[in-house]
Amino acid sequence: MKLIIVGSSGFVGKALVRQAISSPAITSVVGLGRRETPVPEDLSNPADAAKLTSVVCDDFLNYSDEAKQKLSNADACIWLMAVTPNKSGAMPWDEVRKICLEYTIAGLETLSKLPRGNEAKPLRFLYVSGANTERDQTKKPWVMGDYCLMRGGVETRVLDFAKNSNGTIETCILKPGLIRDSQQGNMFINAFQNIATTFISLPIIYLDEVVAALLNQATKGFEKETLENADIARIGKEELVEREEALE
Ligand SMILES: NC(=O)c1ccc[n+]([C@@H]2O[C@H](COP(=O)([O-])OP(=O)(O)OC[C@H]3O[C@@H](n4cnc5c(N)ncnc54)[C@H](OP(=O)(O)O)[C@@H]3O)[C@@H](O)[C@H]2O)c1
Repeated sequence: MKLIIVGSSGFVGKALVRQAISSPAITSVVGLGRRETPVPEDLSNPADAAKLTSVVCDDFLNYSDEAKQKLSNADACIWLMAVTPNKSGAMPWDEVRKICLEYTIAGLETLSKLPRGNEAKPLRFLYVSGANTERDQTKKPWVMGDYCLMRGGVETRVLDFAKNSNGTIETCILKPGLIRDSQQGNMFINAFQNIATTFISLPIIYLDEVVAALLNQATKGFEKETLENADIARIGKEELVEREEALE
């Protein structure tokens, strides 16, 4: 299958590209972003790097014909492009909203009009949001309220888009908590994160579980419309065990 990863240069994106190009179920990976998608280092099979195509785009509201051509005939798309809460304070709110909301909807509109890998099946669109986002616009969370409402609003728009897409798009919203890379960080950072996330009731999840769950759902189909943090951890753990067993 052909998989598009949007936001492939970021923290989750880089780990996802690595696992995706190593997956036998995935024959082609298109990494889309405002800069080149780096080829992962130290691949167990260096030949897998040939599966990756990097597409650099300078306007995420109007895709070039060349970009559209490279995005055509995909079976699934994982959308990671966003401004995360920790970076959102450093830029004007309108810009944050444009990147998180308008780029996502413009991307969906563009993808929905392109030829699909299997015309008989909808494109699987996985939108990665966050555990504490709020779809109900009358309930403002007490921490990062405007941001959480805005991201919850994007979730609603993505779900509505799929419902009105005449079967061209099916979507799954994933709501992970704080994503921790077990290979990075240290005990002081982890301890600080543990306290901060407890204070705001944000669960913690491991990066390899999030990535495994995303690939599981992209290749095997959606378990349900919205996957909460516990669902993502369960699916990711099961997927990692399955892979270990396949190697034995
Ligand atoms: N990290 C976490 O703990 C966590 C937890 C829950 C949910 N999430 C969600 O997971 C998704 C991915 O998060 P992440 O941690 O991988 O974030 P990240 O490292 O900041 O990556 C975000 C991606 O979006 C791209 N991007 C940002 N601004 C852009 C712009 N103006 N134009 C084009 N591309 C732009 C980045 O490109 P550049 O590389 O060029 O900057 C990068 O590829 C986000 O939706 C985030 O909210 C993350």
